[in-house]
Amino acid sequence: MSEATQDAVTAYWSARAPQFDGVASHVAQRETWREVLAAAFEAEGPQDVVDLGTGTGACALIAASLGHRVRGYDGSDGMLAVARAAAQAMNLDITFEATVIDEAAIEPASADIVTLRNVLWTLERPMDALLQAHRILRPGGLVVVSDGLWSVAPQYRSTYDPTLAARLPLHDGLTEVLMRQMLTDAGFGKALSWQHLFAAPPYPGDVPMFVVTARRP
Ligand SMILES: C[S@@+](CC[C@H](N)C(=O)[O-])C[C@H]1O[C@@H](n2cnc3c(N)ncnc32)[C@H](O)[C@@H]1O
Repeated sequence: MSEATQDAVTAYWSARAPQFDGVASHVAQRETWREVLAAAFEAEGPQDVVDLGTGTGACALIAASLGHRVRGYDGSDGMLAVARAAAQAMNLDITFEATVIDEAAIEPASADIVTLRNVLWTLERPMDALLQAHRILRPGGLVVVSDGLWSVAPQYRSTYDPTLAARLPLHDGLTEVLMRQMLTDAGFGKALSWQHLFAAPPYPGDVPMFVVTARRP
């Protein structure tokens, strides 16, 4: 990302951080998200999990509560402050680090699972985040991506300045079809879908959303 774009995105999330969990699906429906992610991880025993763009720790907290060893990375100190407080309140041991995804100093092939939830839409170069996920996964490791077509429901749109939004190729959101193509282009194997495990749509407003996994060959 260009520095100006990243600074604007990060400032937006730091400003939203104190209120973010109040409206978030992963808090209102934490148990459901936990069941879906537990199934999608297909894990036997504790795994090394990296949550990129962790925000207030949606995936990181769930992964740690499932017994995995978790590291979470985000550009916004404000979002991470909320994540750290939540981890402490839940007595979960998670390493959080303030860094943008492209610059995260994560050992190559050091993760079994990488999660990216509702992050790709707000990146200037979303493919770079998938390539970073590919780089830090061990062979056979799993990327878990969840996102949605946010443009269908006004309540889910960011209030980014239009000039900032125009610099983000997926600002309208993503379809599962596009996600699957991006995963293939990034070098991942066959994709599996998991959103059918939600008994009711997790985002009111009929936002088409997906939870898709694919493995690094
Ligand atoms: C919509 S929030 C999603 C947070 C979390 N993954 C979730 O599911 O609730 C988007 C997050 O992406 C972070 N973010 C945006 N660009 C980033 C980048 N280049 N590197 C790391 N984090 C970034 C923001 O700071 C924000 O916390």
